[in-house]
Amino acid sequence: MDTLLIEGVARLAGDFHASGAKNAALPCLAATLLTSQPVRLRNVPALRDIRTMTALLAEMGARLVWDEATGTVDIDCSGVFRLEAPYDLVRTMRASVLCLGPLVARYGHARVSLPGGCAIGERPIDQHLAAVEALGARIDLSHGYVDARARRLVGARIPMEMVTVTGTMNAAMAATLARGESVIENAACEPEVVDLCDFLRAMGAEIEGDGSPTIHIQGCEELAGGEFPVMADRIEAGTYLIGCAMTGGRVCFTKEELRHLHLPLDLLTRAGVHVADEDEAWVVTGPERLTAVDVTTAPYPAFPTDLQAQWMAAMATADGVSVVREEVFENRFMHVSELLRMGADIRVDGSTAVVRGVPALSGAPVMATDLRASASLVLAGLIARGETRLSRIYHLDRGYERLEEKLAALGARVVREGS
Ligand code: EPU
Repeated sequence: MDTLLIEGVARLAGDFHASGAKNAALPCLAATLLTSQPVRLRNVPALRDIRTMTALLAEMGARLVWDEATGTVDIDCSGVFRLEAPYDLVRTMRASVLCLGPLVARYGHARVSLPGGCAIGERPIDQHLAAVEALGARIDLSHGYVDARARRLVGARIPMEMVTVTGTMNAAMAATLARGESVIENAACEPEVVDLCDFLRAMGAEIEGDGSPTIHIQGCEELAGGEFPVMADRIEAGTYLIGCAMTGGRVCFTKEELRHLHLPLDLLTRAGVHVADEDEAWVVTGPERLTAVDVTTAPYPAFPTDLQAQWMAAMATADGVSVVREEVFENRFMHVSELLRMGADIRVDGSTAVVRGVPALSGAPVMATDLRASASLVLAGLIARGETRLSRIYHLDRGYERLEEKLAALGARVVREGS
């Protein structure tokens, strides 16, 4: 199994180039099930999760051609015949559940495996089910599968009991082909939801209010094909941004890449980071040592849970004590025990972690159980003295395109080794 060898201490310097967003590309791929006409998606990142989603669509009968070098995926769902997301694929990637809404909306039937718990929490899909049920689907749960059926979905009020990103996406996709108007209340406002809605609009859907908690969708008979560029990955950009800050680096980001990172940028400025406006770019310079700053994760526009682990790695050597609260997932502190092994001083009490900044970390063999925890350990490895060897890097390959190449281009010594 491959490992990542990180030589500290590094200082990131140079130009960053964001990949397409995993969490926008996945729903856009699922949304192609809504049309029988050809679709071209651009800026699709070459990631393991994308591979899983394309394999799922191919198993359903879609024809796909993915040019990884250009990030272009051509998809034709006219031959889809198998209306199922099987356990084997849903187990490896929860986002497979995004096929539920499109399948039941277009074909009147979907069979999707229940995902079960995962490394960062229980993560039920009750809100996804309630949404398609509100649109008139009959839901049957048996043998570990959701079976959803409807002759034609009918527009309805969809009140979400909590803010859920993929739940909102499933509801929105299903509502585009329902008869009449739907209103999603308490919708997620994440930029990836807006990106999906932009794609749906490009296919002819009538949607208003995305990016706010109330989304209005006027259902239509059918959607057309089209071409759409997936947005830049704000979480990838945020990871490198935090990496730049904590290594005292100097990295240039385009304004587009940091467009949705207002709060992290604001907090980094409070922590001592300097951000200079240079035409189309933001030039970010980290201080010799960051100052401790508290964060609490919550749905957008608050601090993203997907950057919490990376923030904690940065706070591990900051000057002072910071409090990190995780309010989205119940079990997203899996990186803490590994950071402790690198010399960090962190105490966890329920959903709160108290981080006392130490002068330095030391490299160690570490492993992680999820994608963002792995990213935080890579960042910690950059500032740790000596060598950090990260195992189970298949987690990283799910969500960070060409990580070692991009870090090396910024001056870090990071090498992938096979075993
Ligand atoms: N929840 C429910 N019931 C539901 C849906 C969600 O109780 O029906 C709960 C979850 O258990 C969680 C909270 O609501 O406690 C929010 O979860 P949400 O549904 O928003 O998460 P998600 O849609 O499953 C997406 C991203 C995650 C990201 C979260 C939060 C994708 C494919 N995944 O997950 O990304 O952390 O939103 O922003 O878009 C990652 O990329 O590393 C990742 C985990």
